[in-house]
Amino acid sequence: MYAQMVKSEGMKPREEMTPEEIAFQERIDRGEKIEPKEWMPEGYRKTLIRQIGQHAHSEIVGQLPEGNWITRAPTLERKAILLAKVQDEAGHGLYLYSAAETLGVSRDELLDALHAGKMKYSSIFNYPTLNWADIGAVGWLVDGAAIMNQVPLQRTSYGPYSRAMIRICKEESFHQRQGYDIMMKMAAGTPEQKEMAQDALNRFWYPALMMFGPSDKDSVHSAQSMAWKIKINTNDELRQKFVDQTVPQAHYLGLTIPDEGLAWNEEKGGWDFSEPDWSEFFAVIAGNGPCNTERLEARVTAWEDGAWFRDGLMAHAKKADARRAAARMAAE
Ligand SMILES: [Fe+2]
Ligand SMILES: [Fe+2]
Repeated sequence: MYAQMVKSEGMKPREEMTPEEIAFQERIDRGEKIEPKEWMPEGYRKTLIRQIGQHAHSEIVGQLPEGNWITRAPTLERKAILLAKVQDEAGHGLYLYSAAETLGVSRDELLDALHAGKMKYSSIFNYPTLNWADIGAVGWLVDGAAIMNQVPLQRTSYGPYSRAMIRICKEESFHQRQGYDIMMKMAAGTPEQKEMAQDALNRFWYPALMMFGPSDKDSVHSAQSMAWKIKINTNDELRQKFVDQTVPQAHYLGLTIPDEGLAWNEEKGGWDFSEPDWSEFFAVIAGNGPCNTERLEARVTAWEDGAWFRDGLMAHAKKADARRAAARMAAE
């Protein structure tokens, strides 16, 4: 299966479409949802498997930088909140693996591809969380950027993905608020705490901007994905919305966005800002970020350590099936 999960095809001109493909596109244009057993073009299926699979992997790998702080949260309350948040992310991963499975790929295939480094997860999770303020910055900026991406996806054309997004978005807004709440406490704390908050913002600002992906002019998948409503907004549109939402929040905290090019642009009614260093983005995607090796190792180890438990569950299910079959035979 994985060998087929290559890049989505370019946009097909209408005159080259088959009658089935035209009918499919018309359903999408009317705003209908596509459901698992219905006909769909192979490119649509593959693009969705890649997108939903990457999204699921991101939720699961995304637990690692925050999980790192559960045992060191400063109060019992903060610990309980962080624990709930990290558990939510596990749930998001599970909904999304289930949504991907409706497209004919198994969870094992997706996980094998992740563990072999053939499938990606969001590059943001390859950055370390060095201190408690980072947990604030991650919730505020990383979950904030994730919401920006995910809210429009509630209207995506594939039914199971769209429904998963509706539920996930409700939880993401709690995640963003808990992060901002940590930042408010830190920014209003001692000078050292405020400095930690500023330092966390400095380190997470550009990686958060990178979460929306490269500029539209460099993004190969955009046009076809947008026609299929797998993608609703362009990367640049979402990045601009994120900056416009986040800058006033930073000002409210009394923190400075680490960008000397940041300026209000009256004409566009939004902030002008400097582009992230895209060479860093591509290096992290290619496996050379600060924590790529550590993250993947943690996932592979967790998978291997859990093998006895999965085997036990399967053995138990088989025995229970055999017992039920025997009972049926005896009753007949
Ligand atoms: Fe999530
Ligand atoms: Fe989240």
